[in-house]
Amino acid sequence: MNITIIGTGYVGLVTGTCLADLGNHVFCLDVDQAKIDMLKRGEIPIYEPGLAELVQNNIAAERLIFSTDVAAAAAHGDVQFIAVGTPPDEDGSADLKYVLEAARNIARHMNGFKVVVDKSTVPVGTSDKVAAVIREELTARGLDPNGFAVVSNPEFLKEGAAVDDFMRPDRIVLGVGEDEAGQQALAIMRKLYAPFNRNHERMRVMDLRSAEFTKYAANAMLATRISFMNELANLADRVGADIELVRQGIGSDPRIGYSFLYAGTGYGGSCFPKDVQALTHTAQEFGQRLRVLEAVEAVNDDQKLVLVQKIFQRFGRDLSGLRFALWGLSFKPNTDDMREAPSRVLIDALLRAGAHVVAHDPVAVSEAKRALQLDFADAPHLLKHLSFATNPLHALEDADALVIVTEWKAYKSPQLDRLKALMKRPVIFDGRNLYEPWNMQDAGVEYVGIGRRA
Ligand code: UDX
Repeated sequence: MNITIIGTGYVGLVTGTCLADLGNHVFCLDVDQAKIDMLKRGEIPIYEPGLAELVQNNIAAERLIFSTDVAAAAAHGDVQFIAVGTPPDEDGSADLKYVLEAARNIARHMNGFKVVVDKSTVPVGTSDKVAAVIREELTARGLDPNGFAVVSNPEFLKEGAAVDDFMRPDRIVLGVGEDEAGQQALAIMRKLYAPFNRNHERMRVMDLRSAEFTKYAANAMLATRISFMNELANLADRVGADIELVRQGIGSDPRIGYSFLYAGTGYGGSCFPKDVQALTHTAQEFGQRLRVLEAVEAVNDDQKLVLVQKIFQRFGRDLSGLRFALWGLSFKPNTDDMREAPSRVLIDALLRAGAHVVAHDPVAVSEAKRALQLDFADAPHLLKHLSFATNPLHALEDADALVIVTEWKAYKSPQLDRLKALMKRPVIFDGRNLYEPWNMQDAGVEYVGIGRRA
């Protein structure tokens, strides 16, 4: 099938590449010429395991092309995926200007029936706005204003596991209209996704608004689990319970399940913070408050500071003269994404309290430098107190404490003897509960986890 993908961000690039790998002819469009040039060379602008090879293989097989040519993109795909960004507006609502611009460009250049798929995470009702824009342009061109159908097909892939998630989806949500064009579009989408549907029925076909809502509901539910567990972990600290044992105790109930119950330093990334805010905003627009979700966000903002509170409790609020090793910068492992990363809040607080920080991350250092430059625009001189180590052990030299923010695999089995020899004093603030408190105690390491009982 001929497919066009508009926007070569995370979702667009993964979708396009994986669909090409299944044998489709995929045309990826982006406005950013430098990015397109890079992709044409088979280099990818993000760190995502397995993706670069897949891009290179499919370019070589002539199934995947990258271009900035808007007219050619609209002509190419029978299915046009809109996978552009929906950044939050100042008030937290999703800004649809890129989505609607993409829709307009399709309509200006399209040359036959098109299935226009919203892949971007968009507020409930966006499909109507997309359809209205296309209809307006088609009417202006004197063409059949109904020669297209809008489909909502939200993406659930996780960064760091994006290729696998796309290739082995739990479910494929398809929102379609009930009219003839909608049903025609559904038949085309079923054909496109047939390779994923061999052994199990993965399709969840529904109306457009429910599909749009499903994406927000999923992320809001997951974010809620995390904030809830983070609050319980903080209470466990006070009452002397161990959140890890509690997690296992409740996770064994199949109604609850084990996943997404890990307490930590708060959720970050490009989806949860933005989608929680956007859904809260949608509710307000419709005259309802989502009180649970408002609390989820507030709890998460506080949780990003939980390690700072524990550090202040241990060392006092003035950290001048102290040196902290920090392991993990990206918002989670296997990505270099620094969007809403808890490490940024932590570094901000530590440097402003006078500390020196030596950070390590396997892949996110250059992204981190870029992000921190923005965070410290008001106090750039403080960045002199931040340095980066190329090896996690080097970060520990003369450190007064180690702070763990991201659970990269490389941090899971530290050489405690070397750690103790390198550090000024062996103190660990573990924001991801990577170690067992009693093991640390036996090794003579002072250990502070999140909701862990020593
Ligand atoms: C998420 C959704 O999982 C995905 O379905 C959607 O398409 C996009 O948003 P992603 O942001 O890539 O994916 O990361 P995810 O693995 O879900 O983690 C999100 C955040 O929650 C991370 O900061 C992670 O550290 C945190 N988290 C996750 C916890 O704090 N505890 C948990 O138990 C799980």
